[in-house]
Amino acid sequence: MTTFTRRHFLGSIGALGAAGSVPGVLAASPGAAGAMTAEIAGIEKEAAGFTNPLRLPGSSGLFGVLPVSEFREVQVVRTEIEVLPGRRTPFLAYAVESGGKTFLNPAILARRGDDMRVRMTNRIDEPTVIHWHGLSVDSRNDGNGLSVVLPGRSMDYNFTLRDRSSMYWYHPHAHGFIPQQAYHGLASLLFVEDDDEVALRKELDLALGETEIPLVLQDREFDAQGRLRYAPTTAQSFGGWLGDRLLVNLTERPFIQVGRRIVRFRVLNGSNARNYRLAFVQGGRPLGFFLAGTDGGLLAQPLRIDQTFIAPGQRLDVLVDLREADPALPVTLASLTFDPMHNEGGHDQGHANHAAPTMAGMGHGQQGVAPAVEPSHAMGMEGDARALMRIDLKQSARYERRVPAVLSSLPAAPANANPPRRMQLGHNGTGNWTINGQIFDPKVAALSVQRGARENWLIENAERSMPHPMHLHGFLFRVIERLGSPTPVRELAGARGLLPQDQGLIDTVHVWPGESVRIAIDFTHPNVGDQDYVFHCHTLEHAEAGMMLRYTVKA
Ligand code: C2O
Ligand code: CU
Ligand code: CU
Repeated sequence: MTTFTRRHFLGSIGALGAAGSVPGVLAASPGAAGAMTAEIAGIEKEAAGFTNPLRLPGSSGLFGVLPVSEFREVQVVRTEIEVLPGRRTPFLAYAVESGGKTFLNPAILARRGDDMRVRMTNRIDEPTVIHWHGLSVDSRNDGNGLSVVLPGRSMDYNFTLRDRSSMYWYHPHAHGFIPQQAYHGLASLLFVEDDDEVALRKELDLALGETEIPLVLQDREFDAQGRLRYAPTTAQSFGGWLGDRLLVNLTERPFIQVGRRIVRFRVLNGSNARNYRLAFVQGGRPLGFFLAGTDGGLLAQPLRIDQTFIAPGQRLDVLVDLREADPALPVTLASLTFDPMHNEGGHDQGHANHAAPTMAGMGHGQQGVAPAVEPSHAMGMEGDARALMRIDLKQSARYERRVPAVLSSLPAAPANANPPRRMQLGHNGTGNWTINGQIFDPKVAALSVQRGARENWLIENAERSMPHPMHLHGFLFRVIERLGSPTPVRELAGARGLLPQDQGLIDTVHVWPGESVRIAIDFTHPNVGDQDYVFHCHTLEHAEAGMMLRYTVKA
């Protein structure tokens, strides 16, 4: 059965869904437009009740902005913070002392060419290691988990930040502990700036934390005491853990106030498993915006869009011109309804759970297929229309800037005429995810490539599967084409089936069920000797359940 049929199925049970709209179709037909208006009106109503000021990076404390040159030590600690108002939540954090101030999960600021020289000390009772997600560094400094830091021990990082300007991030990478440590707090941002970045900020008069706002999207579940709950069932450790509460910068039900001008949002999906279909909405309609950059920095030109998916691990650099908005109404950052396409279990699409609360729990236990995914909570279902943040508009000083026509020079995709290397994504039917039929074995390099090689990889996802955001360590890459995309994805695509973020340099590519995505990678690097990295799904539970491989770049 095709996904097309499945979409018909979902359409026909639309009344059971959040707002009854057809997934993936943004006002494509009058009927869909009506449903979309109702869906967005529901989201805006939800956001109207948001009362918590968005946590913003300040000059100390949680997410405090810290230049890379101003610290030499990071401790991985157990602490407590206030996530929900009035509650203390036990939390894991990266703690730094600098200039008499304490930082937790600092937002690290670097200029391209700066050095990272820092000693990480593990003060928790589990192995851990810091991985610098998206940075091209040698394999020892990558922190890819092939070696880890035991409790009480330290590791020294020493490398040069040579990547393009972008918002990168850092998080733990000790296999066996990744999802729970990230979930309990270990994750933050790392900004690299270069001349293009400085020019854009000047051109648009942007200031980090005021008119340029990082947004870390995470879903979490809390128990009655305000503690984070992470207790995946067998099915959830295969399918992925979803929290019922959506947090932005660890703020639940947040709002911000900004002027009617161009505002830049730098969005990270820091969730373990949840995908979002992002849009800015107002008055029942999506407000268009500009995609300015992706994982690996600015696009060559801004791209005008009105929605985009963001998968775990991915970042989006977005410019919203709030002068286009109605000054009398707030704008809402939303995740629109979509079909999460968790098609991994069963032969009957009708058994797909997540379609509606009443359907959760169906589709389990068929012989020879992996367990279907249970949502951890009725409210935690992926693909439901949800408000993420309310944006209140205020009068602002005269502002007459325009989004520049050219943002950066983006190197062309590395050309290569060889047949692509195939990466087949699948599962073994007994709770493990596989790449080319193999479950992750950290001791074995599943493939090796030659330093300086330019390769195409064809990442092929099975029809009976889930979406997999595939992340490559060591090298950023370009997307060449998408084939076989399911209808809701194809509807957002342009030439060669490419999605908006496929126009940029990226480190994580979302591969939907049934899709084959061809990427181009240039394995040129300046490091000495063989380099060992990993390639894995960034749905953290999938990586833990085997969807990771080790590869060597031969010197
Ligand atoms: Cu964001 Cu291998 O990690
Ligand atoms: Cu990474
Ligand atoms: Cu996956």
